[in-house]
Amino acid sequence: MTHKHILLLPGDGIGPEVVAEAEKIIAWFNQHRGTHFTTSTAYVGGIAYDKTGNPLPKETLDAAHKADALLLGAVGGPKWESLEYAARPERGLLGLRKELGLFANIRPAICFDALADASTLKRDVIAGLDIVIVRELTGDVYFGTPRGVETLPDGTRKGVNTMVYTSPEVHRIARVAFELAEKRNKKVCSVDKANVLECTEMWREEVQKIRNSEYKSIALSHMYVDNAAMQLVRNPKQFDVMVTGNIFGDILSDCAAMLTGSLGMLPSASLGAKDKNGKTPALYEPVHGSAPDIAGKGIANPIATLLSFAMMLRYSFDLGKDADLLEKAVTAVLAQGLRTADIMQDGATKVSTSGMGDAVLKALATVAKESEKAA
Ligand code: IPM
Ligand code: MG
Repeated sequence: MTHKHILLLPGDGIGPEVVAEAEKIIAWFNQHRGTHFTTSTAYVGGIAYDKTGNPLPKETLDAAHKADALLLGAVGGPKWESLEYAARPERGLLGLRKELGLFANIRPAICFDALADASTLKRDVIAGLDIVIVRELTGDVYFGTPRGVETLPDGTRKGVNTMVYTSPEVHRIARVAFELAEKRNKKVCSVDKANVLECTEMWREEVQKIRNSEYKSIALSHMYVDNAAMQLVRNPKQFDVMVTGNIFGDILSDCAAMLTGSLGMLPSASLGAKDKNGKTPALYEPVHGSAPDIAGKGIANPIATLLSFAMMLRYSFDLGKDADLLEKAVTAVLAQGLRTADIMQDGATKVSTSGMGDAVLKALATVAKESEKAA
């Protein structure tokens, strides 16, 4: 394998703690699996603002363009909430998505059997769950203009955000969902609010067009977002691949995360379009946020970050077997009954953030040996 450079963006809150565990795993792959990953670290989010006055400093953006893949922890926290919009930590992350053109956000929600009882939903609703939310990431009310808050002459304040999509934006995200579905169960549900919002009625029609012209073998259904939220907690296993816009995807993916037991379990990949050198810009991050309330206590769950690294191995580096190993190691650790606080259950053994990372390292050695024997 050729040398690959990973840019680490630990960010704020629990971000640095969970990314530190991923670094141990990266080192393990270099030592034991013949990979040649190098890493460097850059500031993004609140910490970047504190150090440079900008949540996405130019140095970070330059490094991001050069890297083969990015691994981000989390951004944000109460400390920066009163800053003006452009200076907020979230702008760092949104800026990265926009500048790198990361339009396709892939958020799998897989329920590990050992965690089926950690969810707030009943076991039989979620056991065996394996769905993927494909969220459009560079359009919608997140980036649409006009936007902002103004004060009218009579003193009334008026806030505006604009939901906007163009047909090419809908086509490219629809294709990502259909391609993914072709490797899975050939079933896509597109989520919109076509009964109220014209923008999403256009979305529905354009997704259907791409299905009819390019992906005839895919079973495509459409659902309104309010119903989709309800169906996700009522019977999530009816879904396979869901595709939706930025704001609906933000909301539905948090909902889907809880189906898996904890927000601390859900990884994600954000991918752009291949450039002329054949490189696909890619950022991997846990879906959970910076969790400022538990930051620095060593109790955060690093699994979503470790699984995000597994997605990096699979999607950016075509190292599916290595991704499998890491996912198997996580499964094994959960089966051993090791739990961070967020997924703690009766009879399980509570471990710290680094305790969980170390346990996954140990399990990696075991599953790697087993897979060598099997080969
Ligand atoms: C997410 C987060 C971000 C988003 C925030 C931190 C800007 O909630 O990745 O889901 O809204 O996209
Ligand atoms: Mg979110």
